[in-house]
Amino acid sequence: MATLLIKNIKTLVLASDEANSLICGAEMNQIPCINDAYVLVEDDKIKDWGKMEEVPQAAEETIDATGRLVLPTWCDSHTHLVFAASRESEFEDRIRGLSYQEIAAKGGGILNSAKRLQNTSFDNLLAQAKIRLDEVIRMGTGAIEIKSGYGLTVEAELKMLRVIKALKASSPIPIKASFLGAHAFPMEYKSNPDAYVDLIINEMLPQIAEENLADYVDAFCEKGFFSVEQTARILKAAAKFGLQPKIHTNQFNCMGGIQMAVEHGAISVDHLEVLNEEEIACLLDSNTIPTLLPSAPFFLNDHYPPARKMIDAGLGVALATDFNPGSTPSGRMALVLSLACIKMRMLPKEAICAATLNAAFALELAEQLGSISRGKLANLIITKPVPSLAYLPYAFGSDWIEQVILSGVRY
Ligand code: NIG
Ligand code: FE
Repeated sequence: MATLLIKNIKTLVLASDEANSLICGAEMNQIPCINDAYVLVEDDKIKDWGKMEEVPQAAEETIDATGRLVLPTWCDSHTHLVFAASRESEFEDRIRGLSYQEIAAKGGGILNSAKRLQNTSFDNLLAQAKIRLDEVIRMGTGAIEIKSGYGLTVEAELKMLRVIKALKASSPIPIKASFLGAHAFPMEYKSNPDAYVDLIINEMLPQIAEENLADYVDAFCEKGFFSVEQTARILKAAAKFGLQPKIHTNQFNCMGGIQMAVEHGAISVDHLEVLNEEEIACLLDSNTIPTLLPSAPFFLNDHYPPARKMIDAGLGVALATDFNPGSTPSGRMALVLSLACIKMRMLPKEAICAATLNAAFALELAEQLGSISRGKLANLIITKPVPSLAYLPYAFGSDWIEQVILSGVRY
């Protein structure tokens, strides 16, 4: 039995043994924070926490966190971390004036990534993904979701999901896999897109289920990509294999994707750069978690989701990176928090709540992660000496993480 005591913590963030439901609306700004606190870790779990006046006598190892904050690690509930190559030439195209959709229509974008991934070996993809995973863990991510969707053939989608499965086996943090075969229509299906939907349903899904390669199903429900009807067909077929949806919708257009996803019991709907009143009402009436990815509109120079309006209406939102080579070449959750505050008027505590506990719910990992609670996994961020909690999203260019603890062990 190994014990680790972190003492003299300036502020212990999100310490609660009752963190067992999504935090919504005004409560997001009331997350429990304790000054002058300790956390006791036993093996891989949080054993105890409290005020310094009740600190336990001794532990095998002690960290003095004077002047530092301790918070739960980030849960990054939406990434495309497995990919074959970066796409900075499209970055230049956009600077010159082309839009993300125009680049995609020319066969760039997702199709460009798919061509590259199809021609890249399993070993090469795995090696690249391990480097990215290591990078995001150092930036405080303690659980992550990774999507397929750069394969777009039966063989390449399976290869990508097998890479995620191999990552899961060696990863020090929990990983969830989402099958995103419906990410874009391959060129050869442009004149008959429904035939690609058939391929997803009849060929891809059964093999993925057989090899147990996915935890969720995803689709890019958007104009020029998958229609609401096509997405609904895929979600219906996936449900037969026990895969619940987490879907991309409302990135550029409101077209009924949210209502359809809610009807299919989606765990989350992600992006929501455009969102109308009817959709907010629909989400309020559901268990589906709206997940906002502000690094994507930052990178695409697009507009941001109406987070302030959503939280004021009573919704509980999650935040994630969307790490991918096309719209968000960044897995940095700290930047997501800063953008949430600066561009979406979320308060610092709301942003931390959205990136930890609420995001853990969006990955169905909240029983193990997302807060400082007795019995949860000891995945913790220890900051450098900082003046306050609000300093974290404020100091958007600073590297304020001093140490990351995973399952009770320093990373
Ligand atoms: O979430 N919008 C769809 N998929 C990704 C981008 C994929 C790409 O451009 O490679 C996203 O932004
Ligand atoms: Fe995405």
